[in-house]
Amino acid sequence: MTSITKIFASVLSRIKPTEAERARLKALAESIISRINATGEAEGLNIKGELVGSSARGTWISGEHDLDIFIMFQPDVERKELEENGLYIARKIAGESQSFEERYAEHPYIHAIFDGFEVDLVPAFKVERASEIKSAVDRTPFHNIYVSSMIRGLEDEVLVLKQFLKGIGVYGSELKTQGFSGYLVELLIINYGSFIKVLEAACEWKSGITIDIEKHGTLVHKDPTVVVDPTDPARNVAAALSLDNMCVFIDRACEFLKDPDEAYFSAKLAEPLDDKSFNKILKARGTSLLAIEFAAPDLVDDVLFPQLYKVRESIHEMFERYDFHVYNKSVWAEKSALILFELESSKLPHARIHAGPQVWAKEHALAFKSKYTGSDTFSNVFIRDGRYMVEIPRKYDRAKTLVESEILNCALGKHLALSIKKEFHVLEDEEILSIKDNEFRKFLRNFFEK
Ligand code: UTP
Ligand code: MN
Ligand code: MN
Repeated sequence: MTSITKIFASVLSRIKPTEAERARLKALAESIISRINATGEAEGLNIKGELVGSSARGTWISGEHDLDIFIMFQPDVERKELEENGLYIARKIAGESQSFEERYAEHPYIHAIFDGFEVDLVPAFKVERASEIKSAVDRTPFHNIYVSSMIRGLEDEVLVLKQFLKGIGVYGSELKTQGFSGYLVELLIINYGSFIKVLEAACEWKSGITIDIEKHGTLVHKDPTVVVDPTDPARNVAAALSLDNMCVFIDRACEFLKDPDEAYFSAKLAEPLDDKSFNKILKARGTSLLAIEFAAPDLVDDVLFPQLYKVRESIHEMFERYDFHVYNKSVWAEKSALILFELESSKLPHARIHAGPQVWAKEHALAFKSKYTGSDTFSNVFIRDGRYMVEIPRKYDRAKTLVESEILNCALGKHLALSIKKEFHVLEDEEILSIKDNEFRKFLRNFFEK
């Protein structure tokens, strides 16, 4: 136990913001908020700036300069008006920043860099209760009130748990990551009381675990992890957490408690995979790799990745339908997007056994026999296990040809379909090495090593 205490202290000293850092953040937040309020007054708008998120609760990790500032509008304002005026104000404020860009969640907001701090300027409705929200972001101020009232004295526990989750690669509720959100971490600490107690509990978790701090009793969720939102009982705070990421946490929590080590708190950095190692790995495994590459549409990750995951599933199903067995699959996106498959083999024999109806299913049997008798087959129609069968040429004996011919029949979604229709490439085995990008080569190493 002393060793966990030591590790805790050592990690905390690395990630806890100093007083100076806190003061800088506070000053910046206050100046932005007062500018929002002044601009609102000058424009005759009833709005108010509000600091929310981890920086408002003292649960942000040092060096991660992320300020979440909301521009609160009255709830009777029209949505269109909020979007227009909210963005107008946000742009005006961001005009004094180093740089800024428009981003989209449920509605547009501004992401700006002030003085090295990343600042999200998010318009939202100031509703009475979280159950009356008009837009998903309207919940955030309620989270803020709830966590602020419960977290006093537990901030360090939150920081260390966040860092643990970062180290094991499951922090972040973005749809690309499907991990733990900051709010979820805070609720786990509030529920169990400390970093260690969360780990001890998680080590015993099973799929379906339900945490309901305020005893709302809502049982409507079917997700692997259910944490009922104390401020909005109908919502599962852990809805974005995937089963596998939950299980990574269960596994690492047990391992860490058995054999504590500070290494858990640092993300493992993959070395880029060089050509020689790639060829060696592929030869040793004896499998086939197939990459489908196309231009990534200009979408935020939260929109792009769910679409890429869907296309990956749709192509996977197509492979299996044509007898190509998938060992592993993954998705990578930067300027170009790439869906990578490892197949048992990318080549199949030209002949395939095609099973027909049972011999006594008269009508079907007749149709089957007349279709294949005298046609271009490798065998006569024969009987095996009570069924008619015939050996025929396979439509696609190369996985590459299958993808090139049939990809447009997969469920591609609107944006990706457009990009793939325009142009795509299928790269096989060592052809994949034509992609030199360092980040891609790291991704390749992780693909094999996991
Ligand atoms: P952030 O993503 O900035 O999270 O969202 P955070 O809690 O501040 O944590 P870190 O330290 O930056 O990683 C700001 C707020 O938006 C709401 C939460 O209230 C969060 O505190 N939010 C965000 C959600 O409710 N769900 C999400 O998936 C993301
Ligand atoms: Mn934040
Ligand atoms: Mn943020």
